[in-house]
Formats: sequence, structure tokens, C-alpha cells
Amino acid sequence: MKKITIAIDGHSSCGKSTMAKDLAREIGYIYIDSGAMYRACTLFCMRQGLVRPDGTIDTARLEPLMPQLHVAFGLDAATGRPQTLLNGENVEADIRTMEVSSHVSPVAAIPFVRAAMTAQQQLMGAKGGIVMDGRDIGTAVFPHAEMKVFVTASDEIRARRRYDELCVKGEQPDFDDVLRNLRERDRIDSTRAVAPLRQAPDALVLDNSNLTIAQQKQWLLDRFHELTR
Ligand code: DC
Repeated sequence: MKKITIAIDGHSSCGKSTMAKDLAREIGYIYIDSGAMYRACTLFCMRQGLVRPDGTIDTARLEPLMPQLHVAFGLDAATGRPQTLLNGENVEADIRTMEVSSHVSPVAAIPFVRAAMTAQQQLMGAKGGIVMDGRDIGTAVFPHAEMKVFVTASDEIRARRRYDELCVKGEQPDFDDVLRNLRERDRIDSTRAVAPLRQAPDALVLDNSNLTIAQQKQWLLDRFHELTR
């Protein structure tokens, strides 16, 4: 059977990666977390001192450094979990901190950063058989994807999920900070000039505010089987 391309887009912290990962595992597809790529770019900017005190990015210094910025994915030999590699270094834990979250949207809004990441994502998905999650996968990266899903949930529920995730990782976040960060990211992601977050006209909409992980997994599998039958 021909393997299709599956694009899962939506707001921050709505559980896209969990569902995309689960779906990919279930149907034997490759999973790509495109947000991890923008997070790795952000970590690179932080390490190079390109994030100014006001949160803006020194794009003039970043642009010539782009050839030195390589993002790839690997598998953790011990856990079998996907890991994000920045120039070969496993940065999976470092890209999930609140600090990276608070700088990632301005980095992801830079046109030359998007162009570089989009080209790489299109190469990764060139043969189909991929589930990719992000903000612009169904609109800009794979506008012809056979299956597009747009996921959302209420702000408070998303902030609560993100807050719980950070606590499990040993961070001690303030709930209001998490909620503010999430709303600010959504605002920047939805209003940027290049490939803003928006629902593709042909996307299936999934509001998972009141769904369990098992229910949303079943919903996705049902849609996948309907499309590929
Ligand atoms: O999904 P995430 O929270 O890990 O994504 C991190 C940031 O990257 C998010 O604020 C928006 C940006 N992003 C993007 O602009 N385009 C994508 N395809 C994926 C993520």
C-alpha cells in the first residue's frame, strides 16, 4: 500500500507530538517533530549569544552562521526514544526548557531560518510514510499532504499539560508564566509574516480538550483508515 504524508498542526502544547508519535508507531511511519528543529535553532542562537536582552534575535550575525547549524534526529540507544541532534550533540533535554520555549517563536519567525528548516523537512518527507507535527506542515511544508489534522484545546488545559510536563522534568514553573508563554507563542506563531499558524482549509479539526490520549489515538487511527482504505 502507498504510504501517505500526514501533517498534524495546531497550537502550542495541545498534545500534537504525543498523538503524532503514537500514530506513527501504530502504522509503521516515521515521526518528525518539526518544533524540535526550531527549538534546536533557538538553542544554537542562545549559545552563540545571538539573543538580545529584549528577546530579539541578532539576525545579521545569525545568517552567516546558518551553514554551521545542522539539526538531525537519532534514536537513543538505551531508551529507543527519538532524540534531537544539534551538530551531532544530543540536545533533547536542553531544547525543552522554559528558557528555550520563551525564545523560540521569534527565532521561528525569521524567514531564512524557516526556509532552511522547511527545505530539510521536505527532504525528510519526500517519500511519504511520515507523520510530521508543527504549525505550518499542512499549509507550507506539505500543502498536498493526503491527511491533515488541525489540533486545538482550551488555553488553560494546554497550559496545565505543559505545566505538568515541566514539573515531571524537575523544573518548578509558575502556572501563570506557563500560560502567558503559551499565549504569547500562539500570538507570534499566528501573526508572523512567513508561514503563520493557521488551519488548512482541507484539515480535519480535532479539539482534544475533553479527550483522553486513548480516545484521540483512536480518532486519528479511524481517520487514517478511512483515508487509506
Ligand atoms: O511544537 P513546539 O512547541 O515544540 O514548537 C516550538 C516553536 O516552534 C513554536 O512556538 C512555533 C515554532 N514552530 C513553527 O514555527 N513551525 C513548525 N512547523 C513547528 C514549530
